Amino acid sequence: MAGQFGNSDRDRVLDATDMVALIGEHVQLRPKGREHVGICPFHDDRAPSMTVVTHKGAGFYKCFSCGAAGNAIDFMMNYHKMEFIDALRALAERAGIELQQTRREDGATGGRRALLRANAIAANYFRKALAHAEAGAAANAALDRRGITAEMRERFQLGAAPDGWDGFVRHIDRLRAHSAGSRGDDAVPELDVFRAAGLVRDGRQGPIDGFRNRVIFPICDEMGQPIAFGARQINPEDQPKYLNSPESGVFHKGRGLYGIHLAKKSIIDSRTAVICEGYTDVIACHAAGVTNVVATLGTALTREHARVLKRLAERIVLLFDGDAAGQKAADRAIEVFFAEPVDVRICTLPDELDPDELLRQEGGRARFDEALAKSEDALRHFVRRFRQDFRAANGLSAQQQRIEAVLARLVELGFREMPGLRRTLVMSSLSSITGLSERDLEAALEAIKSPTPRAPAQEEPVEVRTERVYRPSLEEQGFAPPQARARRDAERGLLAILLAHPTLATSRVRLDDGSSLPLTEAITPESFLDPESRQIFEPVHVWLEDAHPFTAEELLAELRGGGAKSLTVDLVMLGERRAPSENLAAEQLQVAIDAFERIRRAQAREFSRSGNASLVSPTTSGEPEALEARLEAIRNRGRDPTAFGRLPGSSGQRAAGPPG
Ligand code: UTP
Ligand code: MN
Repeated sequence: MAGQFGNSDRDRVLDATDMVALIGEHVQLRPKGREHVGICPFHDDRAPSMTVVTHKGAGFYKCFSCGAAGNAIDFMMNYHKMEFIDALRALAERAGIELQQTRREDGATGGRRALLRANAIAANYFRKALAHAEAGAAANAALDRRGITAEMRERFQLGAAPDGWDGFVRHIDRLRAHSAGSRGDDAVPELDVFRAAGLVRDGRQGPIDGFRNRVIFPICDEMGQPIAFGARQINPEDQPKYLNSPESGVFHKGRGLYGIHLAKKSIIDSRTAVICEGYTDVIACHAAGVTNVVATLGTALTREHARVLKRLAERIVLLFDGDAAGQKAADRAIEVFFAEPVDVRICTLPDELDPDELLRQEGGRARFDEALAKSEDALRHFVRRFRQDFRAANGLSAQQQRIEAVLARLVELGFREMPGLRRTLVMSSLSSITGLSERDLEAALEAIKSPTPRAPAQEEPVEVRTERVYRPSLEEQGFAPPQARARRDAERGLLAILLAHPTLATSRVRLDDGSSLPLTEAITPESFLDPESRQIFEPVHVWLEDAHPFTAEELLAELRGGGAKSLTVDLVMLGERRAPSENLAAEQLQVAIDAFERIRRAQAREFSRSGNASLVSPTTSGEPEALEARLEAIRNRGRDPTAFGRLPGSSGQRAAGPPG
């Protein structure tokens, strides 16, 4: 339903977005009743806590564990850490909608957007260069030698950085001359943006190309936008072998996965993600028809990678080169996944080959499949490595040291929280390797002090939009807990029906003195004492008064603060359950009003007995000034830290970390 007031781009985009499909592109979803559920990507979810609901053409998500909630735009903003406008654009593109509102902000300098634009310009340039007979000759020859087909070059949008100093710099100049005066999306970013993206650097005589005489592998985000480049040498004297874009506002090495946009669907469908080491490995796998494959970007696997992947897959196969370096990488990768609720398997390829080399051999695909099928459970791998290590130890004390070390390592990796079966497997294996009883091992394990909490993975903090206005809770307003609960329930019960059935705006409701009033007069924002309910009702009241048929979508867009959004989604669902049809809505509204009035009156009596009358908000008229004064007093008290008293000794220095 399109809104009547502005924001038509937003409404069109939301209308055109199938929420289940959108979220299904990011997280595994499965139907449950009229809704869909999946693992919540916004916290460390172990059970499917996220529900995706479609309600009257609109859709939203809600996590019952962490409270994350919102519409399609919120999802994109939170998931991809995008700005509103970028989320809107991404969704518009996805839905094939052209946005009407042109962007006021100049695309030439706007941080993230400008970086993406610079990368897009470069990707285009490299791709055209590869197609060019002369400029792309060396890169084409290199790709030909590798047997990378035209189809794969197209699918991975490969390119060439021509040999020369400033071909790209001049290309930027030309573009700028052509698009002089254009703003927004078409603007060519400032040279500094290209510098920040590593596409241009400063030579002795001015700016030069960042990548020269190399094969270009664009690195894309989950939506397929280039965010960085891997550039492979063509001449061995051009070191290093791969030159990668520097970290930037859009590119974080430890988070990026090469090929994720092409592999995602198949990872979700197969519930399995295969991680290998190199760009060419990914391409070789896709060419061989194994499409659930991605690669890290020349870094060890990080917990951020693990988080991205476990959202999509139940099973992760680590496909490392069969050489010693690959083994070491596998060992470290296991640790990253150790405490995650996914099955991790290690696949070692024969003859120290990497996937690309193996797949190019005759019968390579069969041997590749065989190796994948024989991949080893990560825990078994861990145990096997320990056995080698233990047997290599000379003498009892060396062996004892090995045992202590492995147990300490296990504890550090979260062994204590591991599900029973896997724990048992490890303990019995360790027991048979060491000859110690499981009981002795358990005792030794217990004796190990809990590790200092693992340093959190380096991530950008998820931005939380917080409410600016301080609003006291019911308890702070002087309600005893049972009364607060009753009041909150009554307020929410009323809101629930209204949110699920905005058309009720025009109804009249009966009060229990027998009078009847238009809903908008009977219920005002002041009727709500619970701060979140009131926050939600404020915009609703405006819409009701204007007889504007608002949607839950619009309301979510209006609200600031996760708590209110989350509550909104809860309430819409509650309202749908209580009044599943429009016929029942009016009746249920009256039921909710009656319940609300009952509580309100009882509490008014209670408060007047205790001299707190000014707190009780009347439904229709009353003393809003008195209420405001009281609220103001509470607000002021809330701002004054001394008002709550200080705990003895709490003023001081809580150590931020271990001493030393
Ligand atoms: P490899 O040396 O195994 O390269 O490095 P490769 O992918 O097999 O490439 P070809 O087949 O020799 O062309 C594996 C990965 O390590 C990173 C790259 O991501 C590469 O794909 N790497 C390697 C770098 O980032 N820089 C380097 O200099 C080398
Ligand atoms: Mn390799």
